[in-house]
Amino acid sequence: MSSLSQKRIILGITGGIAAYKSAEIARRLQDEGAEVRVIMTDSAQEFIRPLTLQALTGKPVHTDLLDPKAEAAMGHIELARWADIVLIAPATANFIAVLSQGVANDLLTTVCLASSGSIVVAPAMNQAMWSQPVSLDNIERLKQRNITIFEPDDGIQACGDTGPGRLQQPEAIVDQLCGIFDSGILSGKRVVITAGPTREAIDPVRYISNHSSGKMGFALASGMIDAGAAVTLISGPVSLDSPDRCQLIPVVSASEMLEAATEAVKEADIFISSAAVADYQVTEASSQKIKKKSDKMSLNLSKTPDIVAILSENNPKMFVLGFAAETENIESHARDKLNRKNLDAIIANDVSRDDIGFNSDNNEALWIDANSCQSLSKKSKTQLAREIIVLIAEKIDN
Ligand SMILES: Cc1cc2nc3c(=O)[nH]c(=O)nc-3n(C[C@H](O)[C@H](O)[C@H](O)COP(=O)(O)O)c2cc1C
Repeated sequence: MSSLSQKRIILGITGGIAAYKSAEIARRLQDEGAEVRVIMTDSAQEFIRPLTLQALTGKPVHTDLLDPKAEAAMGHIELARWADIVLIAPATANFIAVLSQGVANDLLTTVCLASSGSIVVAPAMNQAMWSQPVSLDNIERLKQRNITIFEPDDGIQACGDTGPGRLQQPEAIVDQLCGIFDSGILSGKRVVITAGPTREAIDPVRYISNHSSGKMGFALASGMIDAGAAVTLISGPVSLDSPDRCQLIPVVSASEMLEAATEAVKEADIFISSAAVADYQVTEASSQKIKKKSDKMSLNLSKTPDIVAILSENNPKMFVLGFAAETENIESHARDKLNRKNLDAIIANDVSRDDIGFNSDNNEALWIDANSCQSLSKKSKTQLAREIIVLIAEKIDN
């Protein structure tokens, strides 16, 4: 279940060229289970029609402050009380200036002033407008009032300029909003996560490995940090940046991963084994480069240590989540692994598909525990990680 499920969100849309992206934001918020009401400024309605947002949300769009009919239905104070969060995306330079002054001269600014919930502002404007000292001062003033800013992206703009000021992508905005609701659900918990592939040496230049990118484990680490956990991330060789505020321990082989994880879990509450650990290692790796002499060669392989099984057996109080990368009979193979390795839960995914799993940015999976099996529909690994974290938090609470 997404952390946005059943959350009440006011989506405020102001008059910038990026207003068209607000339709996608509204749709994605609802996909996460949020209830969405839309408020549009007069200028916003010049860029995108209220009808579009009304059709997407199934609710009338709120546009007027001084409208007796609107006040009789759901007036500005009711709207402000109703919302868990007010998200303004896109937010124009004008709107940010007005909000920073505490002015309430239209419905959106009035609702913001009347709201006791969180306010999130996603600015979008030309790079010169964004870089003006007055705009940056206004942003600073909002931050001081605990208004969250989803900093704009840098890049090519609609007007042809290049620089900071682009509205973040709808997916990124929704991800960050999930992070706001997730925050604190695993506060104080210590989490160890393994990620990426391992490499088992054949000789000094060759190795056995797999296609794991580490993206799922890194997304889990970021989500866990947002949820308030202290995270140790033990990763095989990947080309990803370490999340902020995370202790990253780089390793290469399965044996190194086991050694690092055994030490790290001593104080841990939760262990997540998302690494694609090689099942076999070369029994005696050559210390010199093997020369190409004969037409055929064979390698003598022996099993690598079963990291998740060893750690779950040695740490019975720790919550252990495993991953099963399967290509067939996904649920039954994963449930068998859950039982054999004495896991609390397992995430099973189908790695035979090109559109999800290894190397992809998306994933679709099954969450399986002793009592249930629930499907987690296709989404970005960041979103899936948040969903998994909410499930872990629920399990630990129970
Ligand atoms: C074609 C066009 C595009 C605009 N795009 C932006 C924009 O991306 N960001 C911005 O801050 N202002 C933009 N403006 C200026 C705003 O529309 C203007 O400041 C307006 O007063 C904002 O009203 P609001 O903040 O009440 O929605 C644009 C104006 C025009 C005519």
